[in-house]
Amino acid sequence: MRKVKVGIVGCGGIANGKHMPSLKLIENVEMVAFCDIIPERAKKAKKDYGTSDAKVYKDFHRMLKLEEVEVVHVLTPNAAHSKITIAALQAGKHVMCEKPMAHTAKDARAMVEAAKKSGKKLTVGYQSRSTPVYQYAHNLVKSGALGDVYYVKAPSIRRRGVPTWGVFLDKEKQGGGPMIDIGTHSIDAALYVIGNYEVESVTGSTFNKLAENVKDNGDWGMWKPGEFQVEDFAVGFVKFRNGCTMIVEASWLLNIEHGGVPTFCGTKGGIELRGGIHMNGEREDKLYTETLSPGYADRDYFKDMELSPEQYEARQWIQSIVDDTEPLVKPEEACVVSEIIDAIYKSAQTGKTVYFK
Ligand SMILES: NC(=O)c1ccc[n+]([C@@H]2O[C@H](COP(=O)([O-])OP(=O)(O)OC[C@H]3O[C@@H](n4cnc5c(N)ncnc54)[C@H](O)[C@@H]3O)[C@@H](O)[C@H]2O)c1
Repeated sequence: MRKVKVGIVGCGGIANGKHMPSLKLIENVEMVAFCDIIPERAKKAKKDYGTSDAKVYKDFHRMLKLEEVEVVHVLTPNAAHSKITIAALQAGKHVMCEKPMAHTAKDARAMVEAAKKSGKKLTVGYQSRSTPVYQYAHNLVKSGALGDVYYVKAPSIRRRGVPTWGVFLDKEKQGGGPMIDIGTHSIDAALYVIGNYEVESVTGSTFNKLAENVKDNGDWGMWKPGEFQVEDFAVGFVKFRNGCTMIVEASWLLNIEHGGVPTFCGTKGGIELRGGIHMNGEREDKLYTETLSPGYADRDYFKDMELSPEQYEARQWIQSIVDDTEPLVKPEEACVVSEIIDAIYKSAQTGKTVYFK
């Protein structure tokens, strides 16, 4: 298989925890360029994952001039996603951008447009879709096994779990708190399962009730007074054009013992994603509940490979470039996730429901 040469922009937590180790395992990938505004991070990434003659940059514009780079992974804080992604697409690169696609819906739309104009591929790092459970649930709904799905719960609940590294508490650099950070995963995964991107309206509420006073954030430690500029809990009520309704909840701090689980209720049956898939309904006039346990072989590609979701995501993405097929996460879909999050924040601010065109 031909070589695919990758450049990394942002060599922090997610680069080291997910992208670089996963790309390193793909036989035909070479990481040939690394960029970070903190040069030591780019140098260390080259040492750990790069080719011996890999280049190191502080300014991503310079890295994008490197002709041999075919693919760029954008792994910076949220507010930098759109400008780097758009510049990379304009420079003729395929782009994998970390989630959320952008810190505003406007920027996400600009990224979709830039991808269309450039003719290059763009995807977003929503790795939940690469789990066997979500792929199985997606195919189950597609097969009609649940009938008409009309109620969805998409929770991302942490009782205590504020990310205290990087700039996660900075409103300008991230765009928001738990809803844009982890709620974004649940929204993406839920839309993928139901295969519905036709949103009619969104109502939301955000809170910052606990950040000032809690004292226990586990191993992630505490933040400085005044540093926590975003919500600590947000909830959204999403109505789709076909009447389906979805509740999204996302917290870093909430006085709750058990958050719920992703739930999809249809006219023929329902599923709850609790480890495996708990399916329920009525059969021969009796209620039933059964547990399905999807494994590696239940995913759509690489059935013989025991890949983690991160490894699967990277492999599917690189394969889509080699084969010129679609990546698992399409930019138009990720953009709808950003539209929903934007609308939750807007609705919370104005007290009004946001209607989609
Ligand atoms: N998929 C997931 O589950 C998941 C998990 C964690 C983080 N993320 C996402 O990954 C992104 C980064 O998060 P992180 O935890 O790695 O943060 P981080 O702060 O650990 O790393 C970000 C890196 O980007 C660098 N950087 C900032 N601006 C830059 C620029 N203009 N050019 C080059 N480098 C720049 C920083 O110096 C830092 O090294 C965020 O968008 C976050 O939402 C995704």
